Amino acid sequence: MGRKFFVGGNWKCNGTNEEVKKIISTLNAGDVPSQDVVEVVVSPPFVFLPLTKGSLRPDFHVAAQNCWVKKGGAYTGEISAEMLVNLDIPWVILGHSERRLILGESNEFVGDKVAYALSRGLKVIACVGETLEQRESGSTLEVVAAQTKAIADRVSDWTNVVVAYEPVWAIGTGKVATPAQAQEVHAELRKWLHANISPEVAASTRIIYGGSVNGANCKELAAQADVDGFLVGGASLKPEFIDIIKSAE
Ligand code: G3H
Repeated sequence: MGRKFFVGGNWKCNGTNEEVKKIISTLNAGDVPSQDVVEVVVSPPFVFLPLTKGSLRPDFHVAAQNCWVKKGGAYTGEISAEMLVNLDIPWVILGHSERRLILGESNEFVGDKVAYALSRGLKVIACVGETLEQRESGSTLEVVAAQTKAIADRVSDWTNVVVAYEPVWAIGTGKVATPAQAQEVHAELRKWLHANISPEVAASTRIIYGGSVNGANCKELAAQADVDGFLVGGASLKPEFIDIIKSAE
């Protein structure tokens, strides 16, 4: 089964109104492959979601960077899945390592969030990945399997899930995983999905790579058999994001 290449741009906690407008106009002017070849999703901070949704080209889609774990209510500072659905935002990023490590989100909490967001009709970019310490101690596969299992324990339909493998040591460091390192973990994750969920889910679920992807290293990474796209941080704020989208071809 063919997996459509997926390129996500995670703008993280960056941007002013003016800067966001500038990024959007660069994206809108970009010459990229058609939607048959690549699915593009950009993820601005919450406050810029309506602006982005309203002015972004129609072939690109929008994601929130997080949402609350259950129905909204008395949860000061949180944004609910229902609010995103109400704004017609189709995607949400969940379980990013910055939330796991800085804000203490556990595997179980992330699994609950993924299940709730899917139940409200959102599509989810679910992030997994090991720290440098975990890689050096040889537990990379165990860590990403445990993170994926916490999602699998709560989710039965994987149609609307994209898994983002983001080694923490590669995020924002300029130290990208080698194509072989990325391929190894992606292939192991796919094997895990095959053994623990189903051959169909393993064949159809997109596993994208994130961590210091840029215009210069994307082609070689994209050529790996189990790399189905990217979740891009820093470079998604720059014109080279267009080159990364083009690596789908
Ligand atoms: O969500 C994106 C990742 O954290 C990658 O960020 O491309 O700045 O390393 P980066």
